[in-house]
Amino acid sequence: MTNLAVIGGDGIGPEVVAEGLKVLNAVLPGVETTDYDLGARRYHATGEVLPDSVQNELAGHDAILLGAVGDPGVPPGVLERGLLLKLRFAFDHYVNLRPARLYEGVTSPLAGVKPGDIDFVVVREGTEGLYVGAGGVLAKGTPREVATEESLNSRSGVERVIRDAFSRAQSRPRRHLTLVHKQNVLVNAGNLWSRTFTEVGKEFPDVVTEYQHVDAASMFFVTQPQRFDVVVTDNLFGDILTDIAAAISGGIGLAASGNINPTKEYPSMFEPVHGSAPDITGKGIADPTATILSVALLLDHLGHTDEADKVEAAVADDLAAREPGAGVRTSEVGDRIAARVS
Ligand code: NAD
Ligand code: IPM
Ligand code: MN
Repeated sequence: MTNLAVIGGDGIGPEVVAEGLKVLNAVLPGVETTDYDLGARRYHATGEVLPDSVQNELAGHDAILLGAVGDPGVPPGVLERGLLLKLRFAFDHYVNLRPARLYEGVTSPLAGVKPGDIDFVVVREGTEGLYVGAGGVLAKGTPREVATEESLNSRSGVERVIRDAFSRAQSRPRRHLTLVHKQNVLVNAGNLWSRTFTEVGKEFPDVVTEYQHVDAASMFFVTQPQRFDVVVTDNLFGDILTDIAAAISGGIGLAASGNINPTKEYPSMFEPVHGSAPDITGKGIADPTATILSVALLLDHLGHTDEADKVEAAVADDLAAREPGAGVRTSEVGDRIAARVS
């Protein structure tokens, strides 16, 4: 029996998660779910962001499904760092898997790009880099104020995510892996990443490799997305590149992600790439497709590969049948995809 923790979170989070669960229940009846009330509401009511007791309970689940965190009424970072990043770090989600695919029936903003031209996966490092919270502020509020954020890159942390990316590349037809960094400027971390990439690459002689600086990669994402198969990069570059990847593949409402702990020591966490979208919260117009595709990643991770394939195929069919330019109604998308997988 699968035991799933559900964190709807803030803004449109609970709206899209409801649709993800609708599809999950339709494709795999009997999954046991436990709802966790975390996010802005709880923070305002109790001052708590992620109590240790809740973190311990979450650790006991097979996986976590998360909507989004972040609220205009809460200082930036409180929920993002205190809840989302805390879970990614505590549960060692070192592979942040973010597939990008242009489905039939979806219009890319890139001229001349057709389905098949965009089909790659970004393996974003999830536990290190500029996200670790190292650094500080001196002389705050004075003209001499200095703020620093340090990027942490450990050999073991870099090596494990690079090895994971190589093995994903090896299992895909094109067997191509691009390392993205900025080794011409960030010479310390850049050297560690590229040296490790070369060394680990020796274990995968049939994978074709390429290196791109992140500025050039950002350009190629929009000028030649066909170049990419698997991309491995650090935490912040991966954050930015995957919003670009989402945009070229039809929008942030379609972009799924998995925060994966490949050793399975801790539960992995699945969530759309997008945030809480305060501008459309409560209107019933958020696209739940990203969350539903994240449910497919969750099913795959838990070994329910047939069900995962079924959900992805149902999403593809639904996207192909959508009327171009017509807006979505959140619950109708969930109803349609759930009906297709039942
Ligand atoms: P956002 O992704 O929430 O929204 C950016 C734009 O995309 C908005 O116009 C929004 O309406 C639109 N959008 C997002 N999801 C959509 C969907 N499913 N369907 C249709 N349109 C959608 O990013 P933001 O505005 O930069 O951030 C808002 C809040 O979310 C902030 O507090 C931020 O920290 C947080 N955030 C959380 C996550 C997460 O939980 N993983 C990710 C990104 C941002
Ligand atoms: C994402 C988000 C998060 C990140 C924030 C909300 C901490 O932008 O999941 O892409 O930067 O990783
Ligand atoms: Mn992001």
